[in-house]
Amino acid sequence: MGNSSGGQQGFVRSLVDNVYLFWLILSLPALYILAQFFVLHGRVPFVPLTGEISGWLLIVTMMITPLMLLVGPLPWLKSRRRYLGVASFGYACLHLFFWLTGANLGVLLRSFERFDILVGWIAMGLFVLLAVTSNDSSVKALGTKWKALQRWIYPAAVLTFVHWVMTTDKIAWAVIYCLPLMVLSLWRIARARTRMSRV
Ligand code: HEM
Repeated sequence: MGNSSGGQQGFVRSLVDNVYLFWLILSLPALYILAQFFVLHGRVPFVPLTGEISGWLLIVTMMITPLMLLVGPLPWLKSRRRYLGVASFGYACLHLFFWLTGANLGVLLRSFERFDILVGWIAMGLFVLLAVTSNDSSVKALGTKWKALQRWIYPAAVLTFVHWVMTTDKIAWAVIYCLPLMVLSLWRIARARTRMSRV
């Protein structure tokens, strides 16, 4: 008995720790969406859905550090933060891809004149910059500048939020999704201020 429940626990543990399985789960919505688009020709809301998934993953990625400051070490989540960030970027690329499939040059050019879409473009530009410098060789090459560069994630997240609330017809949901990250970030800023004033 003891042995078999120990064996089951070991099996569950190996699944929970399996990085490939984690990647598979992150990729499943993308595989479904791509199959709907290219093979099944389904009526999936491709642009809003991929935008939302990217936004959710961005929120989860950005919550990990303040959450650890609040509750202590979370090694499982911490070791997966990079994957979540990469997945968020991947869904943002899909979002842009699906939008481009329905656009032409005129629509593309006019999108830069629309504030709600322009902020999406700027956020995307920042995410590209962060994604191309997220590898180990960039970390080494940029040295202390790397951390400063990574802080651009905050303005990028704010721009994403503005883009989200301005384009969605479910504003309340957008706010609800972003609220935990906003609360944690405000708490983190307040915490840093009290620490500074104590020094
Ligand atoms: C690259 C430039 C971008 C363009 C051209 C763009 C375009 C659009 C458009 C046209 C919509 C409205 C969709 C609709 O209601 O039919 C939209 C919504 C949205 N976008 Fe973007 N977007 C861009 C970047 C981003 C980025 C970087 C993110 C996230 C990281 C993002 C997340 C969202 C979200 C969450 C929505 C709202 C979905 C909903 O609930 O309706 N977008 N985007």
